[in-house]
Parts: sequence; structure tokens; C-alpha cells
Amino acid sequence: MKIENYIRDIQDFPKEGILFKDITPLLNNPQARTECLKILVDSLKGQQIDKVVGAESRGFFFGMLLANELNAGFVPVRKPKKLPHETISASYELEYGIDTLEMHRDAIQKGDRILIHDDVLATGGTAKAVCDLVTELGGEIVQCNFLMELSFLNGRDKLGKFPIFAALTY
Ligand code: PRP
Ligand code: MG
Repeated sequence: MKIENYIRDIQDFPKEGILFKDITPLLNNPQARTECLKILVDSLKGQQIDKVVGAESRGFFFGMLLANELNAGFVPVRKPKKLPHETISASYELEYGIDTLEMHRDAIQKGDRILIHDDVLATGGTAKAVCDLVTELGGEIVQCNFLMELSFLNGRDKLGKFPIFAALTY
């Protein structure tokens, strides 16, 4: 079972010149999903995790599977104005403009051991914003993990000292 066989290349999506990595074949195959989850869990080498923090929206799929497997809580990081309770927010730069992500203030307690998950590490803007949210509440980031890393975009450099793992690297 090779999980890379379940990532589909889509040329010129969402705009011309971009090669999009489509994870929907992976989501749609239970054996591939199980294998991918195992790779991500094994990378933690038994380290205890209190909460998995997943980034809307593609970070929710495996984020929740990871939380279940690790017997941890799950914390959604969402796009603005989606969360109903008191939130904190972090912004990050896009090619043009900025974007913001939010998390519930009471979702993480100081000292919680946190696994951050998203599907893709590209420029690192999203993951850095999630790290900022977790750090603001005193969470201890054990690892940031991803289904794939687009290493040519150097997103890793934005995440500084935090341990990073990607099941696939392009
Ligand atoms: C995509 C992807 C990652 C992020 C990676 O999410 O799912 O979250 O971009 O890019 P970065 O490292 O350059 O920040 P997107 O914002 O397209 O939203 P989605 O998950 O809701 O599809
Ligand atoms: Mg995303």
C-alpha cells in the first residue's frame, strides 16, 4: 500500500500554472486512509498528546482521525466568525492580502501537549498562524504534522523550532 498512489495531481487548479495535490482519492479509500493514519501516529513514537488542533477545512479530516487514535481532544481552528464562543485570532500573509484564523480561547489549557495537523505544508502561513494560537494559550507543541510537504516552498522555515513531520514530501 503506497499512499502516494492515492494523491491525484490536478494541473492548473485552482489557477493556471498550479499543480494541485488532490487528497480525495486517499479519503475515499479505507486501506489507504488507515495506512496514512498509521504513518502519522508512528512518527510520534509514543509521545503523549492531550489535544489535536486541526486547521479548517482540510485539516479536519485526518485531524479527527488522529485525535481518535491518540485518545486526545480535538480542537478546530476555523476561518473568521465561525466559532460561537470567545475566540483568539492570528493572521498570516497571502500572496495578496492577509487571512485570519480563530480558535476558542478555552480550547487549550496551559501545558497541554498539542499535535497540530493540516493536510499540506506549503508556504507555512497557515501552520504558523495555528502555532501562534496554540502558543498564545500556553500549549506545548509536540509536533506539527502534515499529509504532505511542498518542500520547494520552504514553509518549514516559518515554523522555527517546532518538530515537523510529513507523510509525503514533494
Ligand atoms: C490549504 C491547505 C493548507 C494551506 C497550506 O488550505 O489545506 O491548509 O492551504 O498553505 P500554506 O502553507 O501556504 O498556508 P486553504 O486555505 O486552501 O483552505 P481549505 O483547507 O479550506 O481548502
Ligand atoms: Mg487548509
